[in-house]
Amino acid sequence: MPMTRILAIETSCDETSAAVVVDGRAVLSNVVSSQMDLHAKYGGVVPEIAARAHIEKIGLIVEQALQEAAVTYSDIDAIAVTDGPGLIGSLLIGVTAAKTLALTLDKPLVPVDHIEAHATSAALVCDDDPWPAVSLVVSGGHTSIYHVADYDHIELMGQTYDDAAGETFDKVAAILDLGFPGGPAVDRVAKAGNPKAIRFPRTWLNEPHFNFSYSGLKTAVLYHVYGQGKKYGSAAHLSEQEIADVAASFQDALIEPLVIKTARAAAERGVTTICVGGGVAANSALRAALQSACDERGLRLLLTPMKYCTDNAAMIGLLGHQRFLAGVRADLTLEPRGGLVRTGR
Ligand code: KG4
Ligand code: ZN
Repeated sequence: MPMTRILAIETSCDETSAAVVVDGRAVLSNVVSSQMDLHAKYGGVVPEIAARAHIEKIGLIVEQALQEAAVTYSDIDAIAVTDGPGLIGSLLIGVTAAKTLALTLDKPLVPVDHIEAHATSAALVCDDDPWPAVSLVVSGGHTSIYHVADYDHIELMGQTYDDAAGETFDKVAAILDLGFPGGPAVDRVAKAGNPKAIRFPRTWLNEPHFNFSYSGLKTAVLYHVYGQGKKYGSAAHLSEQEIADVAASFQDALIEPLVIKTARAAAERGVTTICVGGGVAANSALRAALQSACDERGLRLLLTPMKYCTDNAAMIGLLGHQRFLAGVRADLTLEPRGGLVRTGR
């Protein structure tokens, strides 16, 4: 069978990324330009700044991906692009670039769902497809559990109803004055803390569904640090040990529902593999808790390597390849989140 080379484009949030992926496995290039520095002083991603930075970068990043892969436009079989979900202005830049390339090069255009790509990203480092599996996606923007029967049958089992796990990490880090992005800082500080020091709420822990809610946890931490009912304040009155205890106890409360629900989802679907993707998969306490839950239950845990956890076009190339094979195509009416032309699914 001839090789299929996919040029993949990802611009759903604050990373401009392009990749060339062969047969959904061999990543010839995966160029990622992060805008972290542009957003850091605002304590979060500013949509207008993100969109403008994507406009400035997208052409160069696509060129660089082709160069690093040592291929030309004529070697490409299809253009895969994230069409959602994400920041609408950011998505628009990637989708417009992909449509322009598809039109001018006369190549097929393949839309890819960003979170489904996170859910299948662990396969990038597997020799054989790891499906069926239950996949936990935990990042700055998403907290979702999927059942992946195979690439064409990806079912959302549950998701957060409010804040995402990474977003909650970032907000708690801001309350504790630990900087942005907060996840790595909370992770580091929590190592010196007692996870049982404060009993923060674990929303819906024992509910039968697979949804999450983290806004109550965030508010509980806020009131614990600033004082009951106070929305503004500072963590300056807390000792280093107290901050570590808050960080560790918060982390424990955030992680427990993730681990319990992911394991329960695997049991319900009778799968023996759990995949984890998204930036929060870097969290050391989450990794350890998932590993021991999997060991106890005889499950295989596949943690996506960090370079494919944060937003990247390689994962779009992997799922884009599968969508391409399944006959999924978009025409030039493709718009982020709306106006999709999807066939073959
Ligand atoms: O996947 P990603 O780039 O986000 C989205 O594109 O949505 O992940 C970024 C998120 C941030 O919220 C960051 O604080 C969090 O992942 N994160 C962590 C850790 N490293 C990154 N959260 C907890 N512990 C970490 N070690
Ligand atoms: Zn993402």
